[in-house]
Amino acid sequence: MTQIKTAVAIGEAMVEMAPVGDGLYRRGFAGDTFNTAWHLRMALGNAAHVGFVTRVGKDKLSEAFVSELNADGLDTSGIGRDDERTMGLYMIELDGVERSFSYWRNEAAARSLADDPAALSAAIKDADLIHLSGITVAILSTTARSNLVDVLTDARAGGARVSFDPNIRPALWESDQDIQSSIRAFLSVTDIVLPSFDDEHTHWGDANPDGTLDRFTSYGVAEVAVKNGHGPVSLFAHGQKYAIPTPEVADIRDTTGAGDAFNAGYLAARLLNIDPPTAVAHGQHMAATTICHFGARIPKNSVPSIKAG
Ligand SMILES: Nc1ncnc2c1ncn2[C@@H]1O[C@H](COP(=O)(O)OP(=O)(O)O)[C@@H](O)[C@H]1O
Ligand SMILES: [Mg+2]
Repeated sequence: MTQIKTAVAIGEAMVEMAPVGDGLYRRGFAGDTFNTAWHLRMALGNAAHVGFVTRVGKDKLSEAFVSELNADGLDTSGIGRDDERTMGLYMIELDGVERSFSYWRNEAAARSLADDPAALSAAIKDADLIHLSGITVAILSTTARSNLVDVLTDARAGGARVSFDPNIRPALWESDQDIQSSIRAFLSVTDIVLPSFDDEHTHWGDANPDGTLDRFTSYGVAEVAVKNGHGPVSLFAHGQKYAIPTPEVADIRDTTGAGDAFNAGYLAARLLNIDPPTAVAHGQHMAATTICHFGARIPKNSVPSIKAG
């Protein structure tokens, strides 16, 4: 029997207030790396351990978040508790089918998730795969970013693989220069990069997904899967390029979290040693399921399960 693998995602989860009509809202929890961790757990069930590493408060709301993760079978031992601060918050407003988001997250406890390198190191010590994003990096102080790079460097030296989704959100960054230098620093400790062409085109001016693929491979990242909405996924793996058509999805309800779900499908498959082109198909299937439902996370029993070949 093969040993059970462990995946850990590091980042920020926020309280989500989603409108249900008449000025009423339903409380949920969401955030890019958290969405990925949650779908990973649901897809893999007991075939893997999945943890989420962040920092929350000691208030009831933070307590409710941690309880929900425990109930869903995620490992919460890497969640730090802040005496002063609590979780960030966002509210969704609907204008017809368009959604817009307002955020209150500048003071979130998650911003100090990498302030203590020893705690961070302990939180990921068993991980075979560590996933983080540009949002994870953007919310950290300069010192915390370098703590995180050091911890990832050690984890890789111990055999862990690191996955990174740049998920560029300019509002979270100080400057273009900051985005570029910080993301490059993290790519130097990344094994798998999972960008979306939209973000990369807007920020770096890549002409097409193949250009994005070439740029990331030129940085020395060994495995790159470029998402592009309904377009093909451009993949570089084992020294080879692939363009993998994305199956058409009928009845799309809400594309929020499509990229996060793709990452979960892809990474779940890779954790089980499924080959990269097949992992893309798992990513596309997970994303397709998500966009047919409202919200970034789908009903638990709708998450496709992923099993070793
Ligand atoms: N219109 C669509 N039709 C089919 N699949 C889609 C569509 N939009 C998104 N997806 C799926 O979701 C994945 C991620 O979507 P994308 O929009 O590129 O990422 P992000 O949500 O990060 O912006 C795609 O690779 C694809 O599998
Ligand atoms: Mg994305």
